[in-house]
Amino acid sequence: MHPPLLSVKALTTTFRTESGVFPAVDSLSFDVAPGEVLGIVGESGSGKSVTALSILGLLPDPPGRIASGSIRFQGREIVGMSKSELRALRGPSIGMIFQEPMTSLNPVFRIGDQIIETIRAHEPVSKAQARQRAIGLLDRVGIAMSERRLDDYPHQLSGGMRQRVMIAIALACSPRLLLADEPTTALDVTIQAQLLDLLRDIQRETNMAVVIITHNMGVIAEFADRVLVMYAGRLAEQGTVDAVFTTPRHPYTQGLLASTPSLEREETRLATIPGVLPQLTETLPGCRFAPRCARRSDACLQSKPPMVDTGQGQLAACFHWDVSAPGAVP
Ligand SMILES: Nc1ncnc2c1ncn2[C@@H]1O[C@H](COP(=O)(O)OP(=O)(O)OP(=O)(O)O)[C@@H](O)[C@H]1O
Ligand code: SF4
Ligand SMILES: [Mg+2]
Repeated sequence: MHPPLLSVKALTTTFRTESGVFPAVDSLSFDVAPGEVLGIVGESGSGKSVTALSILGLLPDPPGRIASGSIRFQGREIVGMSKSELRALRGPSIGMIFQEPMTSLNPVFRIGDQIIETIRAHEPVSKAQARQRAIGLLDRVGIAMSERRLDDYPHQLSGGMRQRVMIAIALACSPRLLLADEPTTALDVTIQAQLLDLLRDIQRETNMAVVIITHNMGVIAEFADRVLVMYAGRLAEQGTVDAVFTTPRHPYTQGLLASTPSLEREETRLATIPGVLPQLTETLPGCRFAPRCARRSDACLQSKPPMVDTGQGQLAACFHWDVSAPGAVP
């Protein structure tokens, strides 16, 4: 067993608001092994991006702050690192791709210069060498006539092409971990599928670890080896994709899966999980999913459910994970 590449322990990240300080991520723990693809899934507002920003040292601070916990990358503690140490880590060690490439690519610079500058910011290579690398990277991410494309500005490219450029930039310094936060969400489904295939090919070739963040269980099923299901800042469930998809233990995971379109199932209407995520500022003494859970009991309202190993390393934060039918305990 390899030591983890990334190890997050009891991470709590808070935001200061007008009514107080509240956790957007609450006591979150997980590991990523070298070469592993970990998916993080959950509804909008569940704390997925805040988790990624905490790892990358990119939280808007203030109002955001890592209040407690540890994030170790290759054994080195990230929490408390200086801005320059974090900058040195991003790129060569941890690459990143975000949802909206227009905000990540600088509109006033040619894409070639942006790739070349990324390489030269971290490696002592000449401009000509970096340019050759940039051409190779654009070829690798499937951009035709790559040498000519280097002189384009971001607005001259389609959304899908811009996201390919972002992937090229993220890969420019051969990171050991790629953090991809909704990398394909803004794109149409055909382009999404092409980009996920591309990422998967590159991941297999390089054996780079990937953390992919999505609200789409279908993306997790296609892409990830293991999955974390987040709910309102907390971990609801984690396990291998096989285990979580065949025997989901947490009522929230069961609800997410029931509302995922499936080619094998024939229903025309999808189930949805009734209710909405609690607001960041809503404090609940018990399980944060309780207001929406058909299985809740008094215990669920009184204290936070413990994380239980439900077998073979699958973890679920639920008092009643072993009640088989969702909704069996009203
Ligand atoms: N800059 C901020 N100031 C205050 N609260 C914030 C800020 N950024 C995030 N939050 C809060 O933190 C919580 C988690 O947000 P986060 O962006 O991580 O959600 P997410 O799971 O990535 O959702 P989405 O699927 O919409 O991207 C939310 O309640 C959000 O309102
Ligand atoms: S059964 Fe209880 S602990 Fe489990 S998800 Fe529902 S409310 Fe939470
Ligand atoms: Mg997000």
